[in-house]
Amino acid sequence: MKSKVNTAVFPVAGRGTRFLPATKAIPKEMLPIVDKPLIQYAVEEAVAAGATRLVFITHRSKGAIERHFQTNYELESILKDSGKEALLELLHETVPPGVRFYYVEQGEPLGLGHAVLCAKEVVGNEPFFVHLPDDLIRSDLGCLSELSEIYEETGASVIAVEPVPQERTSSYGVVDIDERSVLKQIVEKPDPKEAPSNLAVVGRYLLTPDIFDLLERTQRGAGGEIQLTDAIAELLPTQEITACRFSGIRYDCGNKYGYVTANLDLALEQEDIRAALQEHLKQL
Ligand code: G1P
Repeated sequence: MKSKVNTAVFPVAGRGTRFLPATKAIPKEMLPIVDKPLIQYAVEEAVAAGATRLVFITHRSKGAIERHFQTNYELESILKDSGKEALLELLHETVPPGVRFYYVEQGEPLGLGHAVLCAKEVVGNEPFFVHLPDDLIRSDLGCLSELSEIYEETGASVIAVEPVPQERTSSYGVVDIDERSVLKQIVEKPDPKEAPSNLAVVGRYLLTPDIFDLLERTQRGAGGEIQLTDAIAELLPTQEITACRFSGIRYDCGNKYGYVTANLDLALEQEDIRAALQEHLKQL
């Protein structure tokens, strides 16, 4: 019997060196896209997909993430006293109702597979989402909700994928699929000449809990890290894993180009600045 997906895991222990000096004192997940930090987009997508338990695999330098999801009584009372009701409402919206937050320290930077394994005890014996906040996906359906719909039918793991230029395969997990979109193969960061396709794994997974036993046995792989991709490859003989070509647009906010284009596109969605921004762009 399939259980509902209640838990979302957010690996956020990475140091974000590509955004230094911005990330010297601020977690990269707290960088804003216009006026909302990346981690909040992540939480909203997970909550919209039905998650009520949010698990952050974190590092001691990343306390700002925890604080972002706590009530800020002092700020609230200042806003209340000055009659700024709309801003007060915005603050309240950062903490979705009925949701519990869990924080697990990832002691060593041993990779995504290791980060997910750190969630084992909190997740328990249930299916769960993995959401990498660097990958911002804008879609009406919500990418995690799409994965969940497929899981309702298959009862097995689902992974979000999208085509990338062949020369970019060495930055991603890459899959080979059959005509039913079932995974035949998955490899981490293959050389473009050896990649089984150009279908890249993006940062959304729905995994069944048997992945944890496999992660415990997974040796260091690409980049000397314990790779989630390698554990998923071990799951293939016993599980029909579906690759989901999700709808919407993905911005890789782990690099400057993706981050800036996300800011631009989302700023153009904001009514109060759209016209002025369009005018500015015309003049460029
Ligand atoms: C991780 C995964 C990789 C996946 C990517 C998506 O890589 O290991 O398989 O394609 O996220 O963003 P990273 O970007 O952490 O190197």
